[in-house]
Amino acid sequence: MIKGNHILVTGGAGYIGSHTVVELLKAGFQVTVADNLERSDFKIVEGVETITKTKIDFHKMDCLDYSSMDDLFSKNKFSSVIHFAAFKSVNESVSEPISYYKNNVGSLITLLEVMQKHQVKDLIFSSSCTVYGQPDVIPVDETAPFKRAESPYGATKQVCERILEDAATVGFKVISLRYFNPIGAHESGLIGELPIGVPNNLVPYVTQTAAGVREKLTVFGSDYDTPDGSCVRDFIHVVDLATAHVKAIQYVQNLSAKNTFETFNVGTGVGVSVLELVKKFIEVTGIKLNYTIGPRRAGDIEKVYADAKKINQSFGWTPRYGLGESLLHAWNWEKKLRG
Ligand code: UD1
Repeated sequence: MIKGNHILVTGGAGYIGSHTVVELLKAGFQVTVADNLERSDFKIVEGVETITKTKIDFHKMDCLDYSSMDDLFSKNKFSSVIHFAAFKSVNESVSEPISYYKNNVGSLITLLEVMQKHQVKDLIFSSSCTVYGQPDVIPVDETAPFKRAESPYGATKQVCERILEDAATVGFKVISLRYFNPIGAHESGLIGELPIGVPNNLVPYVTQTAAGVREKLTVFGSDYDTPDGSCVRDFIHVVDLATAHVKAIQYVQNLSAKNTFETFNVGTGVGVSVLELVKKFIEVTGIKLNYTIGPRRAGDIEKVYADAKKINQSFGWTPRYGLGESLLHAWNWEKKLRG
């Protein structure tokens, strides 16, 4: 264990958070998890414990609750924080915008207040490529301007980044990681994504269809200006995303500058179409997936993938897993979930 290097992970029972806790422990960090379990389940924490053979210092806690957070910071000497805790459904954010702003923006404000009080400066923030909207130039790099967010969820990420940029002027050191499309699961099959209800995201829908939970997958749109007419995304294995956080922690802790706000794309740099992904899933699993081509989904961006040079060069980070492995791991997780 790296002595005195104690990381608070909010939302550490979530999809990306849990995989990051595994990688942090592997790298020798001491970890505390705060999660209200509203959108996750304690069995994910148990999965992390099994993988890492480590008892997790877990606190069921809401990041909006100032006094619990204050108490947690009083009892621990955190060196850095990784803030995952947030709502992430684009659809839900359209029907419940106020709760999205309250939860995603409110929890960040509470966290910053508590960090400021306890003199904890280093923060890694979960952002999203959604901040770019449909970029004018692809692959998109970190200098691309924000377009008006398509959803309240996207707007919360833009607002949070602006808050963090301002917080950096008063002594915070912030790294904002702009994730592209996270997919896959830990190769042990012990942790992965737990979609609530009918999944909106592509890969959980694919694996649930393969498992017979959904009747068929609809590929949304066949007339986009892309090689096969379906949308193009940058799908990144969740474990690769997790290792980027470990690198980000090391990077921020070694920065000599007092005030920092830096953004990094976290993607593979490769654009893959929805149809290509579906075909790859069929190829690697051997399952005859029931799918059909349907109309476009409202609010979808035609194509987006990362220019990942900045993170490659600054962190020395590159993804380890390819698309086939990512899909196999997602399928492995789905099968374990279904028992
Ligand atoms: C969205 C968000 C992103 C967020 C991500 C994960 C936007 C613009 N993007 O990404 O910020 O990080 O969710 O929560 O807000 N598709 C189908 N059939 C399906 C499901 C999806 O064809 O049943 C297609 C979609 O049309 C899209 C692609 O698959 O082209 C990926 O969709 P999805 O997994 O929902 O992610 P994004 O919309 O790209």
